[in-house]
Amino acid sequence: MSLVAEIDFGTPRAKAEKMVTLTIDGASVTVPESTSIMRAATELGTQIPKLCATDMLDAFGSCRLCLVEIEGRAGTPASCTTPVAAGMVVRTQTERLKHLRKGVMELYISDHPLDCLTCSANGDCELQDMAGAVGLRDVRYGQSGEKHPNPGKDESNPYFTYDPSKCIVCSRCVRACEEVQGTFALTIAGRGFSSVVSPGMEEAFLTSECVSCGACVQACPTATLNEKSVIDIGTPEHSVVTTCAYCGVGCSFKAEMRGDELVRMVPYKDGKANRGHSCVKGRFAWGYAQHRERILKPMIRSKVTEPWREVSWEEAISHAAAELRRIQAKYGKSSIGGITSSRCTNEETFLVQKLIRAGFGTNNVDTCARVCHSPTGYGLSQTYGTSAGTQDFDSIEASDVVMIIGANPTDGHPVFASRLKKRLRQGAKLIVIDPRRTDIVRSVHIEAAHHLALLPGTNVAVLTALAHVIVTEGLINEPFVRERCDWDEFQHWAEFVAQEHHSPEAVAKISGVSAEAIRAAARLYATGGNAAIYYGLGVTEHSQGSTTVMAIANLAMATGNIGRPGVGVNPLRGQNNVQGSCDMGSFPHELSGYRHISGDATRELFETDWGVKLEKEPGLRIPNMLDAAVDGTFKGIYIQGEDILQSDPDTHHVAAGLAAMECVIVQDLFLNETANYAHVFLPGSTFLEKDGTFTNAERRIQRVRKVMAPKNGYADWEITVLLAKALGFDMHYDHPSQIMDEIARLTPTFAGVSFDKLDALGSVQWPCNDKAPAGTRVMHMNGFVRGKGKFIITEYVATDEKTGPRFPLLLTTGRILSQYNVGAQTRRTANVVWHEEDRLEIHPHDAEQRGIRDGDWVKLASRAGETTLRALITERVAPGVVYTTFHHPNTQANVITTDFSDWATNCPEYKVTAVQITPSNGPTHWQRQYAEQARQSRRIVIEAAE
Ligand code: SF4
Ligand code: SF4
Ligand code: SF4
Ligand code: FES
Repeated sequence: MSLVAEIDFGTPRAKAEKMVTLTIDGASVTVPESTSIMRAATELGTQIPKLCATDMLDAFGSCRLCLVEIEGRAGTPASCTTPVAAGMVVRTQTERLKHLRKGVMELYISDHPLDCLTCSANGDCELQDMAGAVGLRDVRYGQSGEKHPNPGKDESNPYFTYDPSKCIVCSRCVRACEEVQGTFALTIAGRGFSSVVSPGMEEAFLTSECVSCGACVQACPTATLNEKSVIDIGTPEHSVVTTCAYCGVGCSFKAEMRGDELVRMVPYKDGKANRGHSCVKGRFAWGYAQHRERILKPMIRSKVTEPWREVSWEEAISHAAAELRRIQAKYGKSSIGGITSSRCTNEETFLVQKLIRAGFGTNNVDTCARVCHSPTGYGLSQTYGTSAGTQDFDSIEASDVVMIIGANPTDGHPVFASRLKKRLRQGAKLIVIDPRRTDIVRSVHIEAAHHLALLPGTNVAVLTALAHVIVTEGLINEPFVRERCDWDEFQHWAEFVAQEHHSPEAVAKISGVSAEAIRAAARLYATGGNAAIYYGLGVTEHSQGSTTVMAIANLAMATGNIGRPGVGVNPLRGQNNVQGSCDMGSFPHELSGYRHISGDATRELFETDWGVKLEKEPGLRIPNMLDAAVDGTFKGIYIQGEDILQSDPDTHHVAAGLAAMECVIVQDLFLNETANYAHVFLPGSTFLEKDGTFTNAERRIQRVRKVMAPKNGYADWEITVLLAKALGFDMHYDHPSQIMDEIARLTPTFAGVSFDKLDALGSVQWPCNDKAPAGTRVMHMNGFVRGKGKFIITEYVATDEKTGPRFPLLLTTGRILSQYNVGAQTRRTANVVWHEEDRLEIHPHDAEQRGIRDGDWVKLASRAGETTLRALITERVAPGVVYTTFHHPNTQANVITTDFSDWATNCPEYKVTAVQITPSNGPTHWQRQYAEQARQSRRIVIEAAE
């Protein structure tokens, strides 16, 4: 095996359509107009020496190493900054050029420490490579870098070091931070020979604005910025391309290895979702895979009050199967069920739902999308006919107006946020609808045209008011609506939104957003050119989540912003494979490809393939399973890769449901919070240890490739197969590619997908079938999947969760960049340096009224429960609104959230909880009790191990 080779073309691909032909070193090459000579030469296979150029960044022209001669032109221009021209004749290797390049390199090397043999980048250093490429053999003024400015190493960042003694001041890092990441954390301080790279105002990396995306480290041609893992382990010697297992952006990475040890994750330039960029999680936070708390042996116990007993795989699996069959014999077939994982692969998720439907004989299967984007599935399928976003991420490059609703992309979907910011810096306009002033509202060189800081729970009112403006001010795209949508339904909807109580003036009173702001935002969205909507859980996790999704879909149809690049409706999906887990038939009422279980033809297709009869009636959703458990009719559950105790609402109710079950089987990497109530623990495998596919927010199916053997012995799909066999339902697969073949056979939107095709094309976006063999970039191009687009009435119904004298504030929840979801992975990495605990954000006015100072412990109480955490006083939140993250189990923010949920899908209303905040001395009685129970529950009797 070897490292996956990626060519650096020196400058970005030109977008011009016109092609020009020129000659380089006697060979003819045809490239798009405005391509640099350097890139054109590289396409011919000629690598012109370079130091300051790289194809992730615009040309800069500072190092003067890439000089060329052009016939008919005086001098020796830099090839990275000189565009090609038709008929141009270029020479890249002449005696004069060789002499000049040697002179340039000699100056660089004379100012550089000559410790190559012990340097961490030895063998992976462009300065070293270029010295060789220009044939530098001696240095006349060698000073071994003694006079080089050296303010000292900065090792403050947990993942990379900065050693200024090796810096050649090429500015690639500074430009990467600006152009690729959009954070502008770095500058070049000083002038001439005393120039040095500096984070912020000459701060340490850790305390600067730096968000540790790693783009500067990737861009650095020397060891100045280098991964600590490379310094510790050595340079990698082989690599495998795989997909990040954190968020729904789906970044592609090269997992670079030395032997069987992972050295670093390097963003892959050919990755179509990330185009060579990354965030701190995917780039650096993979150490959890080797964390000492990872459970590697199966364990069982008869009561949750007992310690765990390590057992063999055979014993664990046969015990689990026997328990499930015993429960079914005693309480009936439907007394058990399972939950698929949005962190696992498509193939694994498909197998779990197959096991439950065909092996357990029940449709009691659900997935964590229940608690995040189930309203997206419902809302978009009602209006457009598919349950997924309409665009690819490249589409943002063609947007003129971007509306972000209830999403915090810089924290939740950072690589998409960087692409969005780039487009905004190019001049696209931004509208943000969010109760909180998130970073995207205002950051370096970015300012939202309109920030509608609405009260939590009023999304539908505000979106319908936007529609009111569009209809009453004649901003409808009538030709589009007449051609593509049901006209009668449109008229009905237009009459509805035009009613006076939907006017911005009326809605201002409910939402707290001024009528002028609503009107201005509506006009910009409808008339500003290509307008795209991106939204997140701030839309879906409400009692009117599905209604909000439909209101968004209505807006896009009414203005014709659907069916081409630059526009569309795009859910920013949370987990790495939440789109996939929904596609794979994880919902109780749907088989893969969103086909209702009651459809006889669909069911028969699966029955024939699987050789069993399937239940016709939909099974229980997660909340219904828990309710049934409390009622005594649901007794056993198989949960793969999901921590419902921490992530689902109303923790007390979840705990009561789990405690009432007789057999809880948890398959995971760590003893998570749900495992405190488990009887069987099956150790799971990480994304590094298995083959399969994930589907990201763009519907893009990408390969996950095994880079090391599973430390627990089995990939997750193999464990499901073992459990199925023990239950007497035989499944047989030698490789996950066979599971994908089965998915393709049974799912029309996946009919053209295979591992071979994914390996050949890199990735495909579903639908991928005979009609679209290479997949579908943009949906609904020539017509909606359901035929005519359907406008749906979106009456605003205020949530039953209301503030009052006892609970006067509204709590909303979200994420932070460095942590991920319930934090099971990121808490076990050095990312904790940025976020050791969940904090409660409160406006200075509300804090002062309560005598709360920054950092004080406060009690956060709702009708559902109470917890304590420390306060963070900030104007990011408006008066009357408080906010917290939910990454840490000792906070258990979901003790507070209620069991109100979306009317259509049961998606919990995480984003609106009426609360009160009071000063506190520390953890509540419940928190102390819970911590003690968790401690007891995690005891393991090692002696009993086989
Ligand atoms: S790691 Fe990212 S944010 Fe930090 S300085 Fe480098 S490019 Fe900028
Ligand atoms: S730190 Fe690296 S990328 Fe930045 S200027 Fe120095 S050598 Fe260039
Ligand atoms: S943006 Fe998401 S997919 Fe990309 S590296 Fe970060 S966590 Fe992974
Ligand atoms: S690579 Fe062209 S000037 Fe540096």
